[in-house]
Amino acid sequence: MKIENYIRDIQDFPKEGILFKDITPLLNDVEARQECLSILVNSLKGQKIDKVVGAESRGFFFGMLLAQELNAGFIPVRKPKKLPYETISASYALEYGTDSLEMHTDAIRKGDRILIHDDVLATGGTAKAVCELVEKLGGEIVQCNFLMELTFLNGREKIKEFPVFAALSY
Ligand code: PRP
Ligand code: MG
Repeated sequence: MKIENYIRDIQDFPKEGILFKDITPLLNDVEARQECLSILVNSLKGQKIDKVVGAESRGFFFGMLLAQELNAGFIPVRKPKKLPYETISASYALEYGTDSLEMHTDAIRKGDRILIHDDVLATGGTAKAVCELVEKLGGEIVQCNFLMELTFLNGREKIKEFPVFAALSY
């Protein structure tokens, strides 16, 4: 079972010149999904995790599976104005301008051991913003993990103070 066979290249999506990595075949196959989940869990080498933080929206899929498998809580980080309770926010750079991400203020207790998950590590802007949110609330980041890393964009550089793991690298 090779999980890379369940990630489909889509040329020129969402824009001309971009090669998009489509994970929907992976989501749609029980065995491939289980294999991918095992790879991510094994990378933790038994380290205890209290809570998994997943980034909207594609970080929710495996984020929730990881939380269930690790017996941990799940915390959604969402795009602005989506969360109903009191929030904190962190902004990050886009190609043009900035955007921000939000988390509920009561989601993490000081000292909680946190796993951050997203589908893709590209420029690292999203992951860095998520790390900032976790640290603002006093969480201890055990690892940031991803289904895949686009190494040519050097996203690891932005979150180099934390352990990073990607199931696949391109
Ligand atoms: C994509 C992807 C990662 C992020 C990676 O999310 O799912 O979250 O970009 O890019 P970066 O490392 O350069 O920040 P997107 O913002 O497109 O939203 P989505 O998950 O809701 O599709
Ligand atoms: Mg995303």
